[in-house]
This record gives sequence, structure tokens and C-alpha cells, in this order.
Amino acid sequence: MINIIGLGPGNENYITKLGEKLILDSDVLIGGKRNLESINDFKGEKIEMASNLKEILEYINLNSDKQISVIASGDPLIYGIGRYLSKNIDNEKLNIVSGISSLQYIFSKIYVDMNELYITSSHGKVPDFDYILSHKKVCMVTDSKIGPKEISKEIINRKLERTVVVGENLSYDNEKITIGTPEDILNIDKFDMSVVVILDEK
Ligand SMILES: C[S@@+](CC[C@H](N)C(=O)[O-])C[C@H]1O[C@@H](n2cnc3c(N)ncnc32)[C@H](O)[C@@H]1O
Repeated sequence: MINIIGLGPGNENYITKLGEKLILDSDVLIGGKRNLESINDFKGEKIEMASNLKEILEYINLNSDKQISVIASGDPLIYGIGRYLSKNIDNEKLNIVSGISSLQYIFSKIYVDMNELYITSSHGKVPDFDYILSHKKVCMVTDSKIGPKEISKEIINRKLERTVVVGENLSYDNEKITIGTPEDILNIDKFDMSVVVILDEK
């Protein structure tokens, strides 16, 4: 069985008990550098995953006798490796263990429900902001090119009134949550790794 395990937003206290148990029982752990480094007690083999997805897939298929766990930040099926692996590995051999997404985490911190939420990402694409901003409640995972400031500019360009929430380094000691108008966000110098919530509270 191949496990795909969500680690939660970062702080180790947010991983599920099942996820933790499966990881420790595994022969091989596959994941991004930062995620692998976060698992200290694991004694088996660690394989780093970056842009080598084809090789990783080949390795998994050739080693189906081993207990392999692929670890992912947050929830593996929210802009994570879960999509690629579930499309390319026989689903009968897959066990996906949900994690708490950074998206869920930020909503718990701002006391707002996630009902009718539109989830999207700016990773490696030019987002369609007309479509995105037609929703009343949006949460975006962002990359270094299109982050809180670029999103705020798009709101200002359309003369829309929105509240913007930026959650940086969520669940870590240096977590920071900023709530303001798009103009407030533009006045901030820079942001670390973050998710952005856009609320139309009218
Ligand atoms: C490839 S996506 C993975 C999302 C992940 N699967 C999840 O459910 O949270 C990576 C992006 O998620 C967001 N992210 C993940 N963990 C975060 C955290 N602890 N604090 C802030 N943003 C985070 C950032 O926008 C980051 O660029």
C-alpha cells in the first residue's frame, strides 16, 4: 500500500494520529526537503521529491512490496501531490490520509466559516481575477510571483471593496495574520509564505 499523508500546516501538533503512525511504520518516506526534515523520529530511507516526479512514480511502481509513505504539506489533495499520484497510481493501491490544510487553518483563526468557499491558487499560472473576484469568499494559495500585494492590486484596479486576510507561516512560531483593505496590504513591505483570503462582506 502507498500512503499519501497530509502533514497539516507545518507545526507537528497538527498531524493526525493515523498519519503519524503510518509514517513511523513505513520503510520509505518520500517528500519535499522541508517536509522530510520535519520528520525526526523516522529511521527508514528518505527520498527527496522535487521536479523528479516521473522517477518517483517509477520507484513507487517498482517497489510495491515496500511500505511507502509520500508526505505532503497541509492536505495532499489541495494543490498538492495527491492529484498527480492519484491520477497515475492504481487507486486500489493508494491510501490517502487527509491533513489539515493551511486554508482550513486560516479560517479557524479568523472565525469565518468555509461554506460556499471558492478555492484557487496562483502557482505557475496567471489567475483569472475577473472570475475569482466574482465570488464572495475566496481563499488562494500563492507563489512568489502572485502574492498578497498583486492580488490586492487586482481588487483595487476593479474598484471593488473587499477585506483581505493574509496568513503567513501558519502554525509556526512566526505565524502572522494581517487583516485589512487591499490598500492596507499594499502598504506592507513584504510577505512570507502565505495564504490569502478575500471576503466580500456586503
Ligand atoms: C503547493 S501549495 C500546498 C497547499 C497544501 N496542500 C495545503 O493544503 O495547505 C503551497 C502553498 O500553500 C500555502 N501554505 C502552505 N502551508 C502554509 C503555511 N504554514 N502558512 C502559510 N501558507 C501556507 C502557501 O500559499 C504555499 O505557497
